[in-house]
Amino acid sequence: MMKFEGSHILSVSQFDREAISRILEISSQMAPYAMRKKRCTVLDGAILNNLFFEPSTRTRVSFGTAFNLLGGFVRETVGQENSSLSKGESLFDTAKVISGYSDVIAMRHPKMHSVAEFAQGSSVPVINGGDGANEHPTQALLDLFTIQSEMTPFNKGLDNLNITLMGDLKHGRTVHSLSKLLSLYNNIKITMIAPKALQMPDSIVSALVNAGHEIVITDKIEGNLACDVIYQTRIQQERFASKDEAELYRGHFSLNKEVYQQYCQNNTVIMHPLPRDSRPEANELDTDLNDLDNLAIFRQAQNGVLVRMALFALTLGVENQLNQYEKPVTWYTNKN
Ligand code: CP
Repeated sequence: MMKFEGSHILSVSQFDREAISRILEISSQMAPYAMRKKRCTVLDGAILNNLFFEPSTRTRVSFGTAFNLLGGFVRETVGQENSSLSKGESLFDTAKVISGYSDVIAMRHPKMHSVAEFAQGSSVPVINGGDGANEHPTQALLDLFTIQSEMTPFNKGLDNLNITLMGDLKHGRTVHSLSKLLSLYNNIKITMIAPKALQMPDSIVSALVNAGHEIVITDKIEGNLACDVIYQTRIQQERFASKDEAELYRGHFSLNKEVYQQYCQNNTVIMHPLPRDSRPEANELDTDLNDLDNLAIFRQAQNGVLVRMALFALTLGVENQLNQYEKPVTWYTNKN
């Protein structure tokens, strides 16, 4: 079994199925705290430094919320312009300093492999909240948690999954990390729908094929959406050379109720890492799907809290002490 305590979480490549099972199991144990049925103060006194050098809503806030829900304190730096990185300080020096102030660090940065570079200078666990177009490991773990829970009513699990990934598969780090994790399971079919110029990197496709999975690469929606899960991604405008170049690909693969009813199965679950681009010209994941039970996108985002709580508990070695630090919730809540 992988040793979690004191470890950095930088890439999904560091996990095997046993490690993932452990993370998903601890994530489930976090539900009563996230749903305010009880409090847990197992990390009372611990400090998370949340360093977000690239925009974020879900990842940054859910890391902070997860740490608070376990009783810890959160400090934040948002934007490189508010950090001494903008004065030429290296990631290594920044890590040396910030890790002295922290028990654990979560970090997002626009450059690929920058979080691993930062971790080399850190004396405390560093969790990758997204490094450029490379990886988003905590998103992939919450995606797996979501797939597992959404498939449970259909008596399915993570093996024998038929999933369609659609959108900007070249730049979308969430689909890179998710594909790598799915390769660990058995008999997976992944249909990859993207414009030819935005297809999944060859190295990830080859690894899936070499692991014996069925991969379909296409730029057509028709006939390719009858699956257990459709996972759509945004055109990652910030990774293109110009906004005009990104515009070329907007709206190619719009998913709305009409497309869903025409091409998906009755029970196809819709996922998206969010943010979805809701501007009319984006024509991406239509709001007319909002009343569909199979639209899992907000449950998916909520699961991010559970999975990040689990990762904090595991990396700080308190996952077996949760019960000892439980307290009642004393304020009004409508969550439970
Ligand atoms: N899914 C995700 O990473 O969202 P944010 O960019 O809002 O953190």
